[in-house]
Amino acid sequence: MPVIDPSNPIVVLTGAGISKESGLETFRDADGIWSKVRIEDVATPEAFVRDPARVHAFYNARRQGLLNANVQPNPAHVALARLERDWPGGVLIVTQNIDDLHERAGSANLIHMHGELLKSRCEECGDITECRHDLSIALKCLSCGRDGGLRPHVVWFGEMPLSMDEIEQALARAGLFMSIGTSGNVYPAAGFVEVVRHYGRGHSVELNLEPSVGATSFAETRYGPAGDVVPAYVDELLSAV
Ligand code: APR
Repeated sequence: MPVIDPSNPIVVLTGAGISKESGLETFRDADGIWSKVRIEDVATPEAFVRDPARVHAFYNARRQGLLNANVQPNPAHVALARLERDWPGGVLIVTQNIDDLHERAGSANLIHMHGELLKSRCEECGDITECRHDLSIALKCLSCGRDGGLRPHVVWFGEMPLSMDEIEQALARAGLFMSIGTSGNVYPAAGFVEVVRHYGRGHSVELNLEPSVGATSFAETRYGPAGDVVPAYVDELLSAV
């Protein structure tokens, strides 16, 4: 690792791999979610129009799984919260994950670019609200009173990820870009390392179980379980502060 100037901001991109050791499934590993269900059946706007009950059932099961008492932040989430607390230049986490494990570990400067499983959104009035219960087409929106429009507040394939302007500005300023637990298959997140390279200011590191699709774009790579490699990397960063 080169010495990173502690006055420079850090941007961290996280994906499903960081939550694997907390007991949540990834998408594209051999036993991942997309080996069991088809994206086009549960994670597109068209699927929701065609069969909303099926889409609700898929996200209801995932929400119940996330709320299981055994699912807790792991040492990788905890290390990133410590980095945010102790790094002078500031840390922004951009997560593709819809779980709330970063928040539970103590991270506050956080963008959920693919939305949040523990929120619902009304397609009729746009109201976004906390949601820890099952959703169904029979439910009424508490804000506008209309029924049938409540959906998980998640970004489906074919929809625009959230807060892209803010993310791009942060990538342009970053002195370090860390990509953790993501396979690099899904854009725009898969292209963030190229954005950092384009601006030419930031060092880039991939921390993952195995090389991602875009591994060769990173200046540095470290492979192993997130619960091991992330705390070790954070320790090295903070030893220079
Ligand atoms: N530690 C670190 N990395 C791990 C671990 C672990 N314990 N276990 C698995 N991984 C790695 C895998 O090797 C893989 O490269 O995490 C990555 C997970 O990749 P994906 O399953 O493709 O998840 P992600 O990249 O987050 O997917 C992006 O795809 O379907 C969509 O919207 C969904 O946000 C998701 C997006």
